[in-house]
Parts: sequence; structure tokens; C-alpha cells
Amino acid sequence: MEQNESQLIKEFLPNHVAIIMDGNGRWAKKQGLARVLGHEKGAQSVTETVETAGKLGIQYLTLYAFSTENWSRPKQEIDTLMNLLISSLKKELKTLQKNSIKLVAIGCIEQLPKKAFRQLNEVIEKTKGNEKFTLTLALSYGAREELVRAMKAIALKVKNNIISIEDIDQSTINKHLYTLNLPDVDLLIRTSGELRISNFMLWQSAYAEFYFTDVLWPDFRKEHLVEALLDYQKRERRFGKISEQLI
Ligand code: FPP
Repeated sequence: MEQNESQLIKEFLPNHVAIIMDGNGRWAKKQGLARVLGHEKGAQSVTETVETAGKLGIQYLTLYAFSTENWSRPKQEIDTLMNLLISSLKKELKTLQKNSIKLVAIGCIEQLPKKAFRQLNEVIEKTKGNEKFTLTLALSYGAREELVRAMKAIALKVKNNIISIEDIDQSTINKHLYTLNLPDVDLLIRTSGELRISNFMLWQSAYAEFYFTDVLWPDFRKEHLVEALLDYQKRERRFGKISEQLI
């Protein structure tokens, strides 16, 4: 075990880590390579990060893999990302099973190309009984779209007298989000030096700790995740209270 890793306090690990994986394109540009290769290298970081998170004992890892806004990228890049998704899902199924990792997806996944949609559902179905760790891929995901969808579903229930307006509370909203079975985000990491949330888990990150690193996603390795976790363990999470109330 490396020195940094041994400093982690197991009892204070975040339950749910979410990552905005950014910088694939810039990584490729820096090396004089096509953007596509940045995404390929980024897929390797995904594999390594999932493995590390599982080994460290994190229960939930959510990765922002494709946003609703990413549909506006050039078609060739979208095709590359979708093909990479398909090949990674095929390649990683065995590892997911071996390590008891459940794969789930959040987002408007019906918008994915048929082949990607089918492959994704196949892996979700095959891993649904796994219990050690939940890996969530945010695909065709946008938090505003998620909230609009939830509001419409709730409004329909009110209209059909299934619930009354007075019954609506935070848990009603939670139950209508893609993330209904996931806990709130504890630690939100964004790579590549950008200091934005980019329409990612707006509701679920209300009390998340944020960690920004200049490391580009394809360079993100175990030691970077450990650094983020150590930083998280130095934070005082007050949830609106004062320090003295936390003891
Ligand atoms: C952001 O980099 C990254 C993405 C839009 C896609 C993330 C995809 C992967 C890591 C690859 C495969 C994923 C899975 C789940 C197998 P960017 O292209 O916005 O980089 P830039 O800001 O430097 O241009």
C-alpha cells in the first residue's frame, strides 16, 4: 500500500463519489493526436478508477460519460464515443461480475444508438444482482432534463389524483429522478482544471464536497483518486449546522 493510501480513514470514505471526466480532447491535442485517441485513453482511466474505487471500499461511483449537450458534437466523435461504450461494456462484463459490481445508467438512454442501448441493457440486466459496489454511467444525461422529466411525472400524478400537491416533498422529487435508488453525492470530482458543474446531478450534489484537479482525465490514476479522497477527509461537512453541533 502506498503512503498516501495508508493515510485514508476507512470509516470516513465518501459513500458516493461522482466524477466529471473532462479533458480527453485536450490530452490528445497536447500529444498531437486525434481527439478519438483521447477518449480511448480516457476509457482506460475509467477501468482503473472503477477498480481502485472498488478496492478502497467506495459503495457508489457515478461517471459523467455523455451529456445531453454532447449530442451537439461532430457525428464522428459521437460515433467514436458510442463505439467505445459498446466495446468497453463487452470487455468489462467479466470484471464487473468477478468483483460483484452492479452497473446502472442514468439519463435519457433511449436516445442512444440501438446497438449501444442494447449492449448497455444487457450488462445492466446481467449485473443487477451484484451487491458490492454500484457503478453508474450518466449517458445522455442532463440534470435539467432530469428535473423537467420528474416535474412532468409528478404533475401527471397530481392531475390524475394519485397524489395531492400537499404530499409533494423532497422525497417525492427524489423518487422521480433517474437516481431514485442512489444516495446523494458526497464527493464530486472534476478533472482538467475546469471549475463548472455542467448540468451534472444538480439536485443530488446539493451538499456534495467539490474537488477540482488540473489532471486531464486520460492521466487520472489511482494516486489522483486517493488525493481527492484525502482532501475530502479534511473537510468539515456541516450541512447547515455549526461545528459544535457536529460532535
Ligand atoms: C470529456 O472530455 C469527456 C467526454 C465527453 C466523454 C467521456 C468518455 C470517456 C471517458 C470514454 C469512455 C467512457 C466509458 C464509460 C467507456 P472532452 O472531450 O470534453 O475533453 P476536452 O474538454 O479536452 O475537449
